[in-house]
Amino acid sequence: MLRKPTATDIAKQSFWDVIMSTETSNAWDAKLYDDKHSFVWKFGADLIELLSPKSGERILDIGCGTGHLTKQIVDCGATVIGIDRSADMIAKAKAEFPKIEFEISDATDFHFDQPFDAAFSNAALHWVKPPERAVACISRALVPGGKFVAEFGGKGNVAQIEQAMAAASRDLGEPLAPSPWYFPSIPEYSTLMEQHRMEVTFATLFERPTPLEGPDGIQQWVRMFGQTFLAAMPQAKQEEFLERVAVHAKPALFQDGKWIADYRRLRIVARKRA
Ligand code: BEZ
Repeated sequence: MLRKPTATDIAKQSFWDVIMSTETSNAWDAKLYDDKHSFVWKFGADLIELLSPKSGERILDIGCGTGHLTKQIVDCGATVIGIDRSADMIAKAKAEFPKIEFEISDATDFHFDQPFDAAFSNAALHWVKPPERAVACISRALVPGGKFVAEFGGKGNVAQIEQAMAAASRDLGEPLAPSPWYFPSIPEYSTLMEQHRMEVTFATLFERPTPLEGPDGIQQWVRMFGQTFLAAMPQAKQEEFLERVAVHAKPALFQDGKWIADYRRLRIVARKRA
């Protein structure tokens, strides 16, 4: 009989078992996200336990992607609105979960007339800049006492990969594109929260070493998530860039015949001051 995978089952699964088993692509689209990146929302399942949604609560899911975690929150009895800036993601979420409300909306620029009891975000806020605008929107969207629960890349996330990309770009004599990522420390993000009437009640920064499948796992990761850096290289140098990234990353990230990405996660819970 099939059983629902537990958080431990999911954590034991190789990242690339889930996302990269048969094909590779550098396209960011909703189908790819669901077919090959489902680990993103599967890792977020136990974050919902921190949110502990109650029946009748009104909850905002920020950066909801294709809506799988939104659906899990709805299943707890809450009324949830999912927002994402990707039209593709929202179209897929609406198609899959037609009874749930989803909206295309930017995390740095959203407004709802009716406030929320809680705001939730999994694996999205590291793509959101400027972060202070997102925090201002989140705080404004909550009722006094409203809860915020989020997980995203924290300080030092993929630092070895970033260093390898910087070294590879130097080898090729090309500049490295500015990073699209935001990986704050606990004090940095807590300060931002406090500046916007949010009291941080729990914060943790933890390692999540993430296995990458196959001998070219690191190159595939850069194709998928480091597109900003790869696309900024002249076309003729892109393959060499990937090869040089692997050479530089290998001493730190290739262990016992496997690539392991150096993920670090920031988990944060806060309450809006009355
Ligand atoms: C992350 O989930 O930590 C991540 C995703 C994409 C790029 C960098 C980091």
